[in-house]
Amino acid sequence: MPKDDLYKVPQNKVAPFEFNQDVAAVFDDMIQRSVPFYREIIQRQAQLIKLFYQPESLIYDLGCSNGNLGIHLCDVMQDNFKMIAVDSSKPMLTVYEEKLASHPLKDRIELHCKDILHVDLHRASVIVLNLTLQFLPLDHRLELLEQIYSALLPGGVFLFTEKIIHPEDSFSELQKQFYYAFKKENGYCELEISQKREALENVLIPETVDAHLARLRQVGFQKTEIWFKWFNFCSLLCQKS
Ligand SMILES: C[S@@+](CC[C@H](N)C(=O)[O-])C[C@H]1O[C@@H](n2cnc3c(N)ncnc32)[C@H](O)[C@@H]1O
Repeated sequence: MPKDDLYKVPQNKVAPFEFNQDVAAVFDDMIQRSVPFYREIIQRQAQLIKLFYQPESLIYDLGCSNGNLGIHLCDVMQDNFKMIAVDSSKPMLTVYEEKLASHPLKDRIELHCKDILHVDLHRASVIVLNLTLQFLPLDHRLELLEQIYSALLPGGVFLFTEKIIHPEDSFSELQKQFYYAFKKENGYCELEISQKREALENVLIPETVDAHLARLRQVGFQKTEIWFKWFNFCSLLCQKS
């Protein structure tokens, strides 16, 4: 797996973070060293998809990146299924395509290079939005959630993971401390951590768990479960009645 050393060298001016060719080349290493329990989240989400998938319906993976969830799902699902995987980064989808090419179930996943705000979502039993809402401008988030809710079939689920912040400054600080310690434990140095933080400034905009729950309620979700939480990360399972 190519190692992420994109922020190892001092930069005069750190450019805003993008999911470009350089990031796509090291993405698996980057995400595993930057998102606590990433593999666990992918693995459990694939199991949840299998549990809630309804025959003849669609599964959407919005912000699919290089396909870790889709590829894992192919290994978990025995039944027939159809997943629409969407990402606006061509380099990410190129890696996804390469991973999928040799897979016997490759025809079950359709890749679309598109903005997730412009997808015609419909007839879905599962919609996944993993670590991606945080990259949308704040004033577009409600619109996307409304589309997701209305595309879900009764009993359908929305699986959702985000980096979050805490409303209390002291707890927010504590979460950051633990998060940067986690990155250090995974081999990132101070310079890499601070330059990446600068690159993500105003690009990744996290919200509080309460803000997410309020928005989920606003669009119609009455059943929500925080099934994973680690300091500044959480994953939710939301079901349409
Ligand atoms: C942190 S990655 C998501 C990780 C992935 N879901 C996973 O579980 O491995 C965020 C992804 O969202 C994509 N993205 C961000 N904004 C987007 C948008 N408006 N439309 C489509 N894709 C978007 C990026 O290109 C990137 O691949």
